[in-house]
Amino acid sequence: TVLGVLASGRGSNLQAILDAINAGRLAAKIGVVISDNPAANVLKRIVGLGIPAACIDRSRFSSRPEFESALAAELNLHHVELVVLAGFMRVLSQNFIELFPGRIMNIHPSLLPAFPGENAQEQAFRHGVKVSGCTVHFVDKGVDTGPIILQEAVPVLESDTVESLSERILHVEHILYPRAIGLYTAGRLRIEGSRVIILDK
Ligand code: GRF
Repeated sequence: TVLGVLASGRGSNLQAILDAINAGRLAAKIGVVISDNPAANVLKRIVGLGIPAACIDRSRFSSRPEFESALAAELNLHHVELVVLAGFMRVLSQNFIELFPGRIMNIHPSLLPAFPGENAQEQAFRHGVKVSGCTVHFVDKGVDTGPIILQEAVPVLESDTVESLSERILHVEHILYPRAIGLYTAGRLRIEGSRVIILDK
């Protein structure tokens, strides 16, 4: 399965996916990494690895449809089968999503549907929840609302700060995302309405 990874920043989830592929734990290939941010650290991570990289800078497009058609063209150029959002800070339109039906995944650092949107770890921390976590889901037109593939809980400790909680969640993200992608590449995910059914091997 050819993956197209869209990322705006640090790129630690991309790194976890690469590590899983290289360790033989994930049968997939990264066809292209695309960032909307020319300064993103994620682009530095793949220098010299022979993985195609593209920067599609949102500020150079006058409208979202033009930006998204450039994204879609780049994904298609590299024959991407599954679009993997890994810290991609742009909301994708319904039109774009329909180009890749059931083929766009995202990871979010909370137990959805709690705390969608930005700074989810901080939202959870400030709310005072005792358990948070992370969620991998298929993308629909809402923000962090699509069918849930995998979730894992992470405890909030009395000694936590937003930073220490975020770090504990991120560690679990790095395990969960390659696992969810692996279920997809193995053909084990079926979307039924708003639910994802995980098929037996
Ligand atoms: C992660 O916390 C992910 O859940 C959220 O954005 C962050 C991306 O981190 N969607 P990284 O760029 O993969 O390090």
